[in-house]
Amino acid sequence: MSDTPGISRRALLLGTGGVVAAAAVAAVGTAVTQGGPTTSTTTDRAPGVRATGRTQAGVARPATPQRQALHAVLRLGGGADPGPDLRSGLAAAGATILRLVSGPSDELPDGPGDLTIHVGLGPGPLAAIDPTLPAATAMPRFAGDDGIPAGRDDGDVLVALASSDGTALRPALDAVVASLPGATTLWAEHGFRGPGQGTIARNPLGYHDGIIVPEGDDELDENVWLAHGPLAGATVCVLRRLRLDRTRFAALAEGERDRVIGRHADGRPLSGGGPTAEVDLQAKTPEGAYLTPARSHARAAHPSFTGSALMLRRGYAFDRGPLADGTADAGLLFVCFAHDLETFVRTQLRLDETDDLMPFTTPTASGSFLVLPGFDAAHPLGHQLWA
Ligand code: HEM
Repeated sequence: MSDTPGISRRALLLGTGGVVAAAAVAAVGTAVTQGGPTTSTTTDRAPGVRATGRTQAGVARPATPQRQALHAVLRLGGGADPGPDLRSGLAAAGATILRLVSGPSDELPDGPGDLTIHVGLGPGPLAAIDPTLPAATAMPRFAGDDGIPAGRDDGDVLVALASSDGTALRPALDAVVASLPGATTLWAEHGFRGPGQGTIARNPLGYHDGIIVPEGDDELDENVWLAHGPLAGATVCVLRRLRLDRTRFAALAEGERDRVIGRHADGRPLSGGGPTAEVDLQAKTPEGAYLTPARSHARAAHPSFTGSALMLRRGYAFDRGPLADGTADAGLLFVCFAHDLETFVRTQLRLDETDDLMPFTTPTASGSFLVLPGFDAAHPLGHQLWA
C-alpha cells in the first residue's frame, strides 16, 4: 500500500471509484467572510471561516479543526409543532448565526474570529417532519449504551460551535439557543484538541488520530455530503461521548498499546509505512500472524469490512475532573460525519464485536443528527426540509 492516504484503497476496496460530479459549490448567496482585520484593539483574532454556501461551516471547513469546541444537544419545547414552529425557529437560529459571524456583536465584542456554528436535527423532529428523511431513524443500542444516563441519548437539536477562542463559544451558544423558542439544553460538552495538521492530532490516549478520513472535494462529495435532492450539502453526524480509561491503557507496555490501536503513537502502521500510510490488513509475520492485529482498532474500524463510506472524524478531548470513585470523567467526544447513518452504525456494531480498544471506553452520551444543508440570508436554515 502506498504512503499516500486513501486513494487506492478507497477506490478499490470500497468499490466507490465512480467520481461523483464535482459539486458546483456555488454559494447560494452572498458569502459571509471575515478575512480582514476586526475592530478589536485587544486581541488578534483568527481569520474568519465562510459561513454560507452549499454546506454548513465547521464540518469540513476549516480543514484543520479549531482547537476549542462546544457541542450542545437540545430538547425542543414540548408544544413545538414540527411544522411552522420548528421551521421559524431554525430560520431564527440561522439568522442569529449569520449575525454572530458577520462582525463584532454584543455577545462577541472582539468579533467572531474563526468561530463556526452548525446545526443538526435528531431523529425525533426528523421523523415528525417526514420519517423517510435521512437519519430519521434512531440508532440501535450499542454495547455499554444501557449505562448512558437518561436524556443523554435522544436529543432533538445539535448546535456545534468551534473556535480558536474557547471564551467565544458559550455566549454564541446562548444566543443560538435563545432563538429556538422553548428549547432547553440536555447536555453540552466543551472539547479541546491538540495542535495538528488537517484532522490529524493526538487523541487523549496519545495516539495520532484522524489519519484516514476523506480529503479534498471529491472524497468529501463521495463520502460525507448528501449529493442529491433538496438536502444536497447535508450530512449525518454521530456524537459519542466516550469516557476513556486512560490510566489502564497507559499501564500497558508500549507494544501492547500499539497492538490495541494497530499503529504506533506517531501514526505509523504496525504493517509498515510512514505516519499517514494506510494499514495493510493482509500483511503477516513469517509465522502467519497479522501485522495489523486481528482485534486492533484500526482493523476493526476499517471500512472494507462493513462496505461503508469513509467517515470524517473530528473528535475533541474532554475533561471534567474526578468522578465520585476518583477516576477521571475524561475522554473523547467522538464526532463523525458521513452521508448516511449506516456508516457509523455498521462500524460501531463491528467494534462492539472485535475491537480491543472498546473495553477502555464507556459511552456516556450519544446522538445522531442530520446536519442541515448550508444557508444564507435569502435561504433560511432548514427550509429544504419542507421543500
Ligand atoms: C475513544 C475511542 C476511540 C479512539 C481513542 C480512537 C482512536 C483511533 C486511532 C488512533 C485511529 C488510527 C488513526 C486514524 O486512522 O485516524 C483510529 C482509526 C479509526 N477509527 Fe477510531 N477511535 C475511537 C473510537 C472510534 C469509533 C467509536 C469509531 C466508529 C464507530 C471509530 C472509527 C475509526 C475509523 C473508521 C478509523 C480509520 C480506520 C482505517 O480506515 O484505517 N473510532 N481511531
